Amino acid sequence: MNALYSLLFVFLLVLIPLFGVGAAHINSFFGASLPYTAFIIFIVGFAYKVINWGKSPVPFRIPTTGGQFKSFDPTMFKQNKYDCPQTGAQTFVRMVLEVFAFRSLFRNTEVSLHETKDGPVVAYKSSKWLWLFAITFHYSFFIIALRHLRLFLEPVPFFVNGLEFIDGILQIGAPTMYLADAGLVAGVLLLAGRRLINPRVNYFSYVSDYFPLFLILAIALSGIYMRYYAVVDVVAIKELTMGLVAFKYVTPENIDVSFYVHIFLVSCLMVYFPFSKLMHFPGVFLSPTRNMPNDTRAKHHVNPWNPDIKPHAYADYEKEFGVPMAEAGLPLDNPENGKAPEEKA
Ligand code: HEM
Repeated sequence: MNALYSLLFVFLLVLIPLFGVGAAHINSFFGASLPYTAFIIFIVGFAYKVINWGKSPVPFRIPTTGGQFKSFDPTMFKQNKYDCPQTGAQTFVRMVLEVFAFRSLFRNTEVSLHETKDGPVVAYKSSKWLWLFAITFHYSFFIIALRHLRLFLEPVPFFVNGLEFIDGILQIGAPTMYLADAGLVAGVLLLAGRRLINPRVNYFSYVSDYFPLFLILAIALSGIYMRYYAVVDVVAIKELTMGLVAFKYVTPENIDVSFYVHIFLVSCLMVYFPFSKLMHFPGVFLSPTRNMPNDTRAKHHVNPWNPDIKPHAYADYEKEFGVPMAEAGLPLDNPENGKAPEEKA
């Protein structure tokens, strides 16, 4: 049901620019006002969340570890540097592997019950499918986003041209099919399929899980439609996008309505992004369970919230309160402390 609601909602979103541009011809609204507003909401919302997270105090070291801590005698147990990092450099490598290779997801396991002659036993086995779907999806998205820089930069940077060449290296069809297009669509379908088919995952999948997947799928399909079927006038579109960059809006005449559908859906994604689970993108960098070295047993950390209480040893305490203690008949380590100052003299 949640999947159906999300799908329906994305359908309705597609209808808005189809009518708005196709029938009502309010091109400048869909081509400029809306993308600008969406971009501002995206930047402000994103920054607000990140700054708020950045300001949250993290007084303790709380990294999640999954390996051997460095032992006193290093010949005894080998430290697992990237599952139990103890220095800044090891933590950095752990973060790089997490961000670029989704390493913790790679270690994913699946639990199942197995019947044996002594009754059922719980078994854990490695499960790489989710990792494979996720990595396909994210890398395809990333490559497409980088390739899109061609529309916003003049001259086009060399790495964008290089990426375009590699992405189309199979030279299938005309215009050449991009591998990342196939990867993005396959990735989204596999991730959505997993939520639909696996009963346990389906049970805790909400509209907020399906909606971004279907929205991204619709963005990808409208892009693919533009490139391979409508064969849109990219020169006219670049005139528009460069106008947006330079704050000089122009509405070229011969832009297909599919472009407005594409950019409208992207605007929806930008507005939705800061308020959604998609914020895991900046979140991974700010996650104290990942970005901290596990060095509590090697270094002394003082909670910065602690009140500034000076140490007060018992000997000093006795010097201060020795007289009333002696009067009350309490035993003293140093009987001199029980004497009044004039007695001492
Ligand atoms: C979430 C962001 C976006 C995604 C996931 C996305 C996805 C895609 C995909 C999959 C394609 C098919 C061809 C290709 O891979 O290049 C495409 C094409 C296209 N996209 Fe996007 N897009 C996004 C944002 C934008 C934006 C912001 C614009 C411009 C304002 C834009 C303009 C275009 C154009 C003009 C094409 C056709 C390119 C051609 O014919 O070669 N896209 N998009």
